[in-house]
Amino acid sequence: MRHLFRIAGVFAVSSLWSTSAFATSTGITGQSGKDGVMCSTCHKGGEVPTVVLEGPTTLEPGATGQYTFIIRGGAAKTGGADIAVDSADAKLQAGTGMKPLGAELVHSAPQAFTGTELRFNFSLVAPSTDVTLKLFGAGNSSNADQKSDGDRAAATTLSVTVGKGSPVVVDPIAEEDEGGGCSAAGSAPVWGLALAGLALLRRRRS
Ligand code: HEC
Repeated sequence: MRHLFRIAGVFAVSSLWSTSAFATSTGITGQSGKDGVMCSTCHKGGEVPTVVLEGPTTLEPGATGQYTFIIRGGAAKTGGADIAVDSADAKLQAGTGMKPLGAELVHSAPQAFTGTELRFNFSLVAPSTDVTLKLFGAGNSSNADQKSDGDRAAATTLSVTVGKGSPVVVDPIAEEDEGGGCSAAGSAPVWGLALAGLALLRRRRS
């Protein structure tokens, strides 16, 4: 019986994999660069495009900001994107040509370039608490042959300070480390030093 479950598990995982491998023209998540990988694992052979994330780098807590992810150059017939954010309390809202998939935004279908440029508009709803978050965007510039070759992707990030931001920039990998607390422990002496320095400065001034 347990054996059967295990086989079912393997089947579920491999069918998931094949969905992501063969249906990415309708969007694929986990490829924004946030998790260390992006579209170029599969999309090869084309010229590398340039990508940029544009929008406000500061937001009030709870405010909504309008952002644009732009792909320029490369094969430049059609393209797609994957947008992610490293704060679970932030929300991404899809604009034209995009759709939400899990917590991320992806292209709903390959989008046609306008000249040498393809723009994806979306909005970011900031968390209600102060934090410094990071937006991740990966974009594929494709030749519209419905295959993964002759295309190429690039990725970029944009830091957004919500309210006063967070004093310690949280490393997403350290955050996942459950036994951890190492990032907090590591930063404590730094804060201590900064405070001591401030105290010294005050004393000198008076
Ligand atoms: C696991 C491999 C794989 C990854 C990773 C992948 N793709 Fe694809 N993609 C494919 C395959 C295979 C096709 C062709 C079949 C199809 O249309 O789905 C394709 C097709 C496309 C097309 C149409 C290409 C054309 O020339 O017509 C676009 C656009 C696209 N993907 C965007 C993306 C974006 C954006 C990413 C990253 C966020 C991405 N893909 C990541 C495998 C992948």
